[in-house]
Amino acid sequence: MWGICTRTMVKAGMAVKPCRLVKPCHLVTPVSATRISGRYRSHQQGLPTLPVPPLHQTFERYVAALEPIVEAEELQHTEGLVQEFQKAGGVGERLQKALEKRAKNTENWLSEWWVQVAYLDYRLPVVVHSSPGLVLPHMDFSDKQGQIRFAAKLIAGVLDFKTMIDHETLPVENLGGKPLCMNQYYEVMSSCRIPGPKRDSVVNHARGPTPPKHITVVHNCQFFVLEVYSSDGAPLTAEQLCLQLEKICSASPPSEAQHVGILTTQHRDSWGSVYGNLIKDKTNRESVAAIQSSIFTLCLDGAMPRVPEDTSRSSAAIQMLHGGGSQHYSANRWFDKTLQFIIAEDGTCGANYEHAPAEGPPIVALIDHVVEYTRKAETTQSSTAPLPAPRMLRFNITADIQREIEEAKKNMNLLAEDVDMRVVVFEHFGKNVPKTHNMSPDAFIQVALQLAYYRLYQRCCPTYESASLRMFRRGRTDTIRSASTASAAFAKAFDDAGTQNTEKVELLSNAVKAHRWYTNMAISGQAIDRHLLGLKMVAVEEKMALPAIFTDSSYATALRYKLSTSQVPSKTDCVMCFGPVVPNGYGVCYNPMSDHINFAISAFKSCEETSAARLAEAVQRALLDMRTLLEQTPKSKL
Ligand code: COA
Repeated sequence: MWGICTRTMVKAGMAVKPCRLVKPCHLVTPVSATRISGRYRSHQQGLPTLPVPPLHQTFERYVAALEPIVEAEELQHTEGLVQEFQKAGGVGERLQKALEKRAKNTENWLSEWWVQVAYLDYRLPVVVHSSPGLVLPHMDFSDKQGQIRFAAKLIAGVLDFKTMIDHETLPVENLGGKPLCMNQYYEVMSSCRIPGPKRDSVVNHARGPTPPKHITVVHNCQFFVLEVYSSDGAPLTAEQLCLQLEKICSASPPSEAQHVGILTTQHRDSWGSVYGNLIKDKTNRESVAAIQSSIFTLCLDGAMPRVPEDTSRSSAAIQMLHGGGSQHYSANRWFDKTLQFIIAEDGTCGANYEHAPAEGPPIVALIDHVVEYTRKAETTQSSTAPLPAPRMLRFNITADIQREIEEAKKNMNLLAEDVDMRVVVFEHFGKNVPKTHNMSPDAFIQVALQLAYYRLYQRCCPTYESASLRMFRRGRTDTIRSASTASAAFAKAFDDAGTQNTEKVELLSNAVKAHRWYTNMAISGQAIDRHLLGLKMVAVEEKMALPAIFTDSSYATALRYKLSTSQVPSKTDCVMCFGPVVPNGYGVCYNPMSDHINFAISAFKSCEETSAARLAEAVQRALLDMRTLLEQTPKSKL
């Protein structure tokens, strides 16, 4: 239906056109440049800068990564191109030197390019194709009153977290004992993506001289500005927020719905051009600006149609990922908003976030805090002073804009119908079992995914797992290539009747170790994908013809991730979800808890090859079979 997804094309080098890579004024600016002071500034400045890996190391690892996913002949051809590229005094050395120079002169040689290439230049709708959803456990309410009470507490919880950000009292996070960059926490509040006709931007209002004090609430597709601080600067209490939310709900009957929010689900080029028309009108411009500058958006939904218990989490994931289509809640959103919390009347809760400013882990840390907060009793005494009524945001919808709204509804509904989503809770074990066998749980799950895929398709596929680069200043992510020679050997041997269990265990152990090795390499800035992107971006900036390694079919294959995966751990029993990045691929997000694992698996229904339910079933079977193998093979023989 979609053809090759643009993000993949860009990553694959098919769509990067020479572009001026000047720093757009709206783009996320370095943390040290603005509000961060004292403690955080010295923390940030103490972090190492992202290294540029040695050229020969990247290409040696690149060839190794291609081995399980391209044909032998293709690989041989690529090896020739790699040799040519690395020749002394050749193009590779020239690009490498330019990249090293950039690394010396910037805070992070990659992050700005990455935000542009992966997000702001990406033109497919952010909904499904880029913005993740997050499903919280079902909350204990099932009516409007309960919804409003919970929403009020959630707002208070977010403001409590915001106070920690503002006061720089958030504890610095660690990964493998190393402190992490905290910049992303400063990018998610009061920020919004702005559509452009060819490229988008992100604006962050928290940096301005008067940081916003309001949130936006959307109910029955009508947007309201809700001031969440009182005149003395104190955050409103949950009790006060409850009263304000009640006013919003009574002022927004379904009959007055304006579906302007659905425009944010459009292809970015279309939305970029409609946006220009929309904000020509002063009222519209002010309403849009109020949404963009708000601290976050709260979406108060009704309930999705009832589904059997075993698919209720999948239905919740759909609601969080895209809102269920225009007949449900897709217009009850502003998908450009960095943070949207979604609370439905039946107790279904979660969030949706626009990916450009941050990865999942900071969002989940915020959610963990908020969920914990909502469980505490309110202790603050509410003032009795009357509060100003929340302000409804008006839109003047011309016939042209209305036509665009109808078009957006049609497209959103086609996309919504196409998303095949399966959320499963694997209840047999969690991180505990791999740990008992001295294996990295994440690597164990990734190897299970490789086995599951191999069993379904009798081949390995290019697999993406996000690895954090937050050990470095302003670090984002690199790719862990989970399909390795070791994982392929294990997957091929597992169902082979001629292979002994002891040998299978050894192959499993090798595959897990290989994955963990790649992970360590990726989080320490030595993986291959962002380095390759950097070399390519230098060539683009210098307006050179793209070197043949980037127009090579192996490179295109390597970037067509049929498995796009990510671990997003949390304290709360939740799960993130996102769409596949290629039409015939899967999106797999998982949260490994101590004794169970939450998976959200997506595919496109229009692709006959894929089925979220089949992969979900195969992953669970692979995990169980791998445990059985380990338990049934006497340790003495290992
Ligand atoms: N034996 C026993 N225990 C082990 C082990 C072994 N061989 N290897 C690891 N463990 C333990 C770890 O100590 C850790 O313990 P904890 O539960 O007490 O914290 C636990 O198992 C988990 O480790 P592991 O499964 O190896 O994963 P990880 O926590 O190191 O995470 C990544 C791996 C790749 C997910 C992580 O490095 C990362 O980059 N995360 C960010 C991803 C991201 O940004 N995603 C969002 C994109 S939107």
